[in-house]
Amino acid sequence: MITKTTFLSTAKQKVKKYRYSKSKFIKLVVLFLSFLWNVAQTIKRVIVDKDFRSLTLLQLLHPNKLHQTTPLTFMDRYPAIFSACKNYFNGKQDLKILSYGCSTGEEVLTLRKYFPDAEIIGADINKKSLAICKTLPVDSKISFLYSSHSEIKKHGPFDAIFCMAVLQRKPHDIAAKGITNLKKIYPFDKFEKQIIEFDEIIKTQGLMVIHYTQYSFEDTSLASQYKSLGYSNQSDYNLPVFDKESELIKNPRPQKSIFIKL
Ligand SMILES: C[S@@+](CC[C@H](N)C(=O)[O-])C[C@H]1O[C@@H](n2cnc3c(N)ncnc32)[C@H](O)[C@@H]1O
Repeated sequence: MITKTTFLSTAKQKVKKYRYSKSKFIKLVVLFLSFLWNVAQTIKRVIVDKDFRSLTLLQLLHPNKLHQTTPLTFMDRYPAIFSACKNYFNGKQDLKILSYGCSTGEEVLTLRKYFPDAEIIGADINKKSLAICKTLPVDSKISFLYSSHSEIKKHGPFDAIFCMAVLQRKPHDIAAKGITNLKKIYPFDKFEKQIIEFDEIIKTQGLMVIHYTQYSFEDTSLASQYKSLGYSNQSDYNLPVFDKESELIKNPRPQKSIFIKL
């Protein structure tokens, strides 16, 4: 008896064979069938896979606002950076902190451990992740909100903005596919526009923490208005980074991550 798997693999082999047919007509039919197959697979995933559905909707509804799509996060992900920022503030009271792209809230819970008295706002564009944040047992000085510049602005200005693993797009796929120009996928302008929005809501002597990104803060038009704090950098990123023309940088120096607004 032919099982579903053997039927599909035989069909795939046949399609592969016909893809290289000398007849243009057969090639066109094969291309069309492959296209229909891919569309059907995507529709099936949208229906059965909640996470895929949520990400697909985000990409369709907010193509201009959306940065990194995946929600990967975990507790105390960047201990060296968090400690450097804690040392910089040296026990200062009444800090206001933004965790931009807080995903399911682990970053906010971590920041609470480093900054016990601070007011902490977690913002994310993924409503599914935000719903998880809202179930967390947090104190009254922590809140979560849907990421829009106008909404975040109402809570500022901030002493520190943590934007960790957000200003990038599918870096592992980019590495695997050997992509050397990022313009069509995640242009430099989009990165810089976000940095300019942060600059509007950050206090003088406040910290802008831009970590795990495909572009460098130091390439933006605002770089001269900031100075780096120590040597914290993304030397452990190990993924492709790009210049302001969105071209791949070969053998890059590790990008700095923490900047003080002058
Ligand atoms: C890889 S997670 C990073 C989570 C956490 N910051 C960390 O480093 O562990 C990237 C997050 O950025 C969020 N994101 C993407 N575009 C955003 C935007 N415009 N505003 C806020 N969050 C955004 C995604 O929804 C996702 O939760």
